[in-house]
Amino acid sequence: MAGDFETFAQAISSLDLPTELVGKEFVIFPEIDSTNRWILDNGRPGLVAVADSQSAGRGRQGRSWSSLPGLGLWFTVSVEGMVPGLSFAAAMSVHDALFDCRPRVKWPNDILIGSRKVCGILAEHRSGVTALGIGINIHHKAGDFPEELREKAGSLESTTSQTFDRVQILSRILIELDKSVILLRDGAFESIRLRWVEACDIVGRTVRRESETGVVLEIDDEGALIMKTASGVRRFLSGDITIPDGE
Ligand code: BTN
Repeated sequence: MAGDFETFAQAISSLDLPTELVGKEFVIFPEIDSTNRWILDNGRPGLVAVADSQSAGRGRQGRSWSSLPGLGLWFTVSVEGMVPGLSFAAAMSVHDALFDCRPRVKWPNDILIGSRKVCGILAEHRSGVTALGIGINIHHKAGDFPEELREKAGSLESTTSQTFDRVQILSRILIELDKSVILLRDGAFESIRLRWVEACDIVGRTVRRESETGVVLEIDDEGALIMKTASGVRRFLSGDITIPDGE
């Protein structure tokens, strides 16, 4: 159920998370253009910007991200510097926080429940600050999504028929993310990357990326797909894939 902004903001302000680096300080907006944009302009390490709604939410590949009031969690964590592996760690943190919903990771870092995308992640970097933006659809019913997303998007509630509390989900994700950022800083890049590769579950599968179809040979250190296609072995660092024989 969607809650009102005052209650939402009050609950976030009262959080006292058992974290070291992430989620010690919050800034909460009833509406903003984009929490990623705000963090890139104002971020300091550990700060989390949360919005009840975004008027210009940013998605991957220059797309927009639908962020209606009260329906989801739209937040950005400010991380100092460029942390290799941060987007793998972010996907795994959301995955682990939502474990009871049987989430899946879709390369590169979408989170699906069943076949529907419930979460998108966008890391942007500028002048020593990484804005790690996470959008999670929580209370949406099918009709709450823009027409063009209705076939593919879902929310935690629409995909599981359970109810969720936005602040509880936020806390769980920040606790997982804090652990991951600490592990990455302690040199656990490869173990986090391998967990993420396993969760993506596409090595050896036939995949379509835009007009090209091929078999995924591996996912490399930077997270790029190495695909054997009709025109040779190709490397893709970004893009949208579909798995023709996928469930
Ligand atoms: C995607 O396209 O899959 C990534 C979507 C990322 C959306 C989140 S919502 C909070 C943060 N602020 C933004 O403007 N974008 C990210």
